[in-house]
Parts: sequence; structure tokens; C-alpha cells
Amino acid sequence: MTGRMAGKVAFITGAARGQGRSHAVRMAQEGADIIAVDICGPVIADSPTPYSTPEDLLETADLVKGLNRRIVTAEVDVRDYAALKSAVDSGVEQLGRLDVIVANAGFGTGGVTLENVSESDWDDIIGVNLSGVWKTVKAGVPHLKSGGRGGSIILTSSVGGLKAYANTGHYIASKHGVVGLMRAFAVELGEYSIRVNSVHPTNVNTPMFMNDYTMKWFRPDLENPGIDDLKVVAQTMHVLPIGWVEAEDISNAVLFLASDEARFITGTTLAVDGGSTLK
Ligand SMILES: NC(=O)c1ccc[n+]([C@@H]2O[C@H](COP(=O)([O-])OP(=O)(O)OC[C@H]3O[C@@H](n4cnc5c(N)ncnc54)[C@H](O)[C@@H]3O)[C@@H](O)[C@H]2O)c1
Repeated sequence: MTGRMAGKVAFITGAARGQGRSHAVRMAQEGADIIAVDICGPVIADSPTPYSTPEDLLETADLVKGLNRRIVTAEVDVRDYAALKSAVDSGVEQLGRLDVIVANAGFGTGGVTLENVSESDWDDIIGVNLSGVWKTVKAGVPHLKSGGRGGSIILTSSVGGLKAYANTGHYIASKHGVVGLMRAFAVELGEYSIRVNSVHPTNVNTPMFMNDYTMKWFRPDLENPGIDDLKVVAQTMHVLPIGWVEAEDISNAVLFLASDEARFITGTTLAVDGGSTLK
């Protein structure tokens, strides 16, 4: 078998669609087998974005199998450590090893200042985007250690983990928290040759960003904003002449960090942001 991930197994959360699915497919293209989990349902009761479904996760599985790679899937909420552990334990039992953890599952809400964020919105965001990332790594790390071959852990943060935007402060705090988590894990796991890094996407063309709620948030001046209206404002966020990137752009960064090409890279924050952090 050839490929930059030949013979390796990657555990990916939030893999039913969007970036998580793209990471699974990209790594499978390079020879990895995949353990894929997703909540496959609403993350919070009144989510502004459409939620993923069991069919979405099945589609990810079909895409990976279409590349002649193996995949084990489970419907798991990353807030549930026991369920995460059971999924990754079962996946490793079936696929034989674990090399990479991609803690990608997350969601966002916004529209109010920090002092007006409800306590339940705060708890939901921190519970998924920060505690869920910690639980994902906690569930997977024993397998990396026991494999004795080192490993790579990639935590999905955001440009909002490196700089602040108004009216989504709970999300900003959760994604900055991911950086602290990444650094602390990197310090603790280095002696096992386990590398830990974070990726920081700008807007990505996935259901989390590309939806009516975002369009209205970015264009409150318009009654029925569309994709071109979104682009006008989204482009002002970047140095490069873009409004957003594609999921595959993030997957290529994740793949690099997961691969042996990044064998001495740990503790870094890798922005895939079209220069957004320069502004
Ligand atoms: N889309 C963007 O513009 C953007 C920008 C920066 C960072 N991010 C981050 O990238 C990551 C992936 O987002 P995406 O763009 O693919 O969005 P997406 O909504 O398309 O996909 C996210 C997936 O995560 C799953 N998920 C959410 N909460 C979960 C939970 N509690 N347990 C298990 N699965 C859960 C969802 O069901 C969904 O399938 C998130 O952490 C997000 O915060 C996204």
C-alpha cells in the first residue's frame, strides 16, 4: 500500500459531513483506515444551522469504502466520554491500531454580546467545542501510547481561536481554550513522540457557515441575502481575495500535520485563513 497515511488509522469526530467528512476522505485517499463518529442529530435544541443525520455518516462511510479503505462508524456525542471511549475502543479492536486523532466536532452560535449570552448557550458551546475536544483526546490517547509508535493529534480550533470577533464571545473563548488544551497535551505527550497541533480555519464552505442564518448575520442590511451578498462582506475579512475556503483546504493541512512530513512539528497553531489573522 502507498500513500502518506499508508497503514495508519485515524479517529475523527464530527465526521458525518463538512470538514470531518473531508478529513476522512482525504486521509483514506492517502491509505488510512478511519474511525468516524458524529452526533448525527441536533447538538442543541434550537440550533440555527441544519443538523447532520445518520445518512450523512453512512455517506462518509461509503466514500471511504469507495477508496478501498476500512471505516468503523458510531453515533456519538462528544460530550459523552463513555460513548467516545467505547467507539474508539471498538474501532481500534476492529482496525488493529490508532495513529491519529482529529478532534474536529464543533458548532457555533452568535448574535449577542458576551454579557448577554445565556448560561445554557455558554455551557453548550464550552461543552462541545472545548470539553468535547478534551474528552476526544482523553478517549484516544491510551491507544496511541500503547501502540508505542507515537502519533499525531490535531485539534480543530478556528481563526476565532487566535483573534476575537464581537457577538460570538462564547465561541471565541471555546476556540482559544482549544489552543491551551493543545499546548498542554503537547507538553505532556511529547515524551511518547505524540505530536499535538491545532488548525485554525477561516470561513469554510460547509453547512456550519453556508446557511441562511450566517447570510442574515453577515448581511443584516438585506432582507433575503444570498451567496454573492455573503461573499462581499466575507471577503473583507481576508488578505487574499476570497470569502471562504473549501473543506479540502483544511483537510490538506490536517493531513500534513498527521503525516510523517510533520514529524518534528508539535505545539503549533496552523492557520488556514487567507490572511484573516493579519487583519
Ligand atoms: N465552517 C466554518 O466556517 C468554520 C470555521 C472555523 C472553524 N470551524 C470549526 O470546524 C469544525 C468542523 O465544522 P464544519 O465546518 O465541518 O461544520 P459542520 O456543521 O458541517 O460539521 C460539523 C460536524 O460536527 C458534528 N458535531 C457537532 N457537535 C457534535 C457533538 N456534540 N458530538 C458529535 N458530533 C458533533 C455535527 O453533527 C457535524 O456533522 C468545528 O469545530 C467548527 O467550529 C468551522
